[in-house]
Amino acid sequence: MPEPSPRELPDVAVDAWSGVHRGPLRAGEWVRLTDQKGRKHNFELVPGKRFFSNKGHLEHDDLIGREEGFAVASSAGGEYLVFRPLLSEFVVSMPRGAAVIYPKDSAQIVALADIFPGAHVVEAGVGSGALTCSLLRAVGPHGRLISYERREEFADVARRNVSRFFGTSGEEQHPAWSLTVGDVAEELPASRLRADRVILDMLAPWECVDAAADALVPGGIVCVYVATTTQLSRVVETLRAHGGFTEPHAWESLVRDWHVEGLAVRPGHKMMGHTAFLVTARRMAPGERVPMKKRRPAPGAYGPDYTGPRPADVPVQAEDPVAEL
Ligand SMILES: C[S@@+](CC[C@H](N)C(=O)[O-])C[C@H]1O[C@@H](n2cnc3c(N)ncnc32)[C@H](O)[C@@H]1O
Repeated sequence: MPEPSPRELPDVAVDAWSGVHRGPLRAGEWVRLTDQKGRKHNFELVPGKRFFSNKGHLEHDDLIGREEGFAVASSAGGEYLVFRPLLSEFVVSMPRGAAVIYPKDSAQIVALADIFPGAHVVEAGVGSGALTCSLLRAVGPHGRLISYERREEFADVARRNVSRFFGTSGEEQHPAWSLTVGDVAEELPASRLRADRVILDMLAPWECVDAAADALVPGGIVCVYVATTTQLSRVVETLRAHGGFTEPHAWESLVRDWHVEGLAVRPGHKMMGHTAFLVTARRMAPGERVPMKKRRPAPGAYGPDYTGPRPADVPVQAEDPVAEL
């Protein structure tokens, strides 16, 4: 397979790599207003336009030209904090085609799938482009993000969201990004690309394990995001049965806010509980296999009722006599 060649970096503003804009607010940029009850309002700054709320209105022209991080009063006495949205705020408020990966999981993916500046990362599906924004930030200008999305209408939503976040316009996109409309299980093998990381977020990721394995460099990481336990089981067993990956690691993250006020220091009432499961496994070098496990599978784990993919070294277990009682 051809090795990727180093790329000439296009002459673009630093903003284009990060989506972070500095200096006074400009027309065409998005701002995020927070009212006194903590409600958020996101809109694009357009000269001459007004923002309306239940507390009257604000002139966009009164925001344009100011440094973010200020409070402003509306015509009927409402007070609003004005900032540019952070990436974690942008992705939960942007228009959606498909469900997005939430920041708590994107953060886990970037850290635990070890996405690094300069990495060559394959991603599928793109959906609304939420994870795409985090991956582009993490690979930076010297990396590459090669994304696949089966549905043209979702690809369009993702293109718009990504270009809105990175502040690119028209046909121009983030310089490290390419988006192919098609099935990753067909398009990735046909491209003969090599990847350091492959990230899968789709209904049936087990159908793409062979394509991911063939594209990954030795030591590369496949990372899969799935919402249900049945998907989790099937993708983990498919990775095991493939034989070219290390033992898959599966986990989820739960995030709980805390209320900290004087003597009232306690967990918040709401928490971000289950969103999805994550799985990672590392690609073995060609022809190498993981040594057989010393520990036997849990009793009944692969008994006669188990019908999923079966690792080559795991025979059908006899009925568990204890479970029979
Ligand atoms: C839940 S969405 C992805 C959301 C996205 N990760 C985000 O953060 O916005 C799943 C997407 O995978 C796409 N998809 C499913 N199977 C695919 C495949 N084999 N190849 C490419 N895209 C696929 C679907 O069309 C859908 O848009």
